[in-house]
Amino acid sequence: MGNIFILNGSPRASKSNSKQYAEIFSKNYLQETIYKAISKTNQVQLCRELSHYSDVLFVFPLYADALPVGLLHFLKTLETNLPEHKPTVSILINCGFLEPEQNEVAVKIIHLFCRRNGFPIGSTLMLGSGEAILKSPFKYIAIRNIRKLAKCIASGNHQTIQATMPLPKFLFRLAANKYWTKYGQKFGITKKQMQTMETEG
Ligand SMILES: Cc1cc2nc3c(=O)[nH]c(=O)nc-3n(C[C@H](O)[C@H](O)[C@H](O)COP(=O)(O)O)c2cc1C
Repeated sequence: MGNIFILNGSPRASKSNSKQYAEIFSKNYLQETIYKAISKTNQVQLCRELSHYSDVLFVFPLYADALPVGLLHFLKTLETNLPEHKPTVSILINCGFLEPEQNEVAVKIIHLFCRRNGFPIGSTLMLGSGEAILKSPFKYIAIRNIRKLAKCIASGNHQTIQATMPLPKFLFRLAANKYWTKYGQKFGITKKQMQTMETEG
């Protein structure tokens, strides 16, 4: 077990759920953790720093059934700036929908990257309901599974873990509808407006 480099691949890094998940991970990992957010300007530097660690944990959200574009750019940069020592790559991915398996394609993308570039593959936690779970009574489920992830990485006994809120889909949909409609109201946006493609307008 060595020190671990945690890289946040969320585009809203400082306000992201991923940052909160990384913090929970750090509290539960017994060795030192170094946390950095991937930005447009620090990518080559991060590639160099990777050499110093036995493990790296990518913490990021699912975006459009895939990786956030900033993380994709980082992987492209990493391909051309491979570190001398390649750390074992673990993943903590969260998605907005209830089903953790929504994250499977994104995990496969990272694993393909690892295989092509000679990075050992470590553990994975796929979290469903990742936007909501930390603000809900089911926060303990997220914490419990992040702790499990930390143990797997520390022991080298790698596993893939899935977790989500224990709710039926219809109830989750109802709650999500209510939450996002209220959230839109705070910014003067109606539900109808949110259902259009004009989100940037
Ligand atoms: C542009 C965008 C695309 C998203 N695409 C998906 C998706 O395809 N499936 C899903 O379950 N959640 C999706 N989400 C929800 C995020 O994965 C979820 O809100 C997550 O908690 C955000 O994490 P972050 O705060 O670390 O960025 C999307 C969110 C945004 C903003």
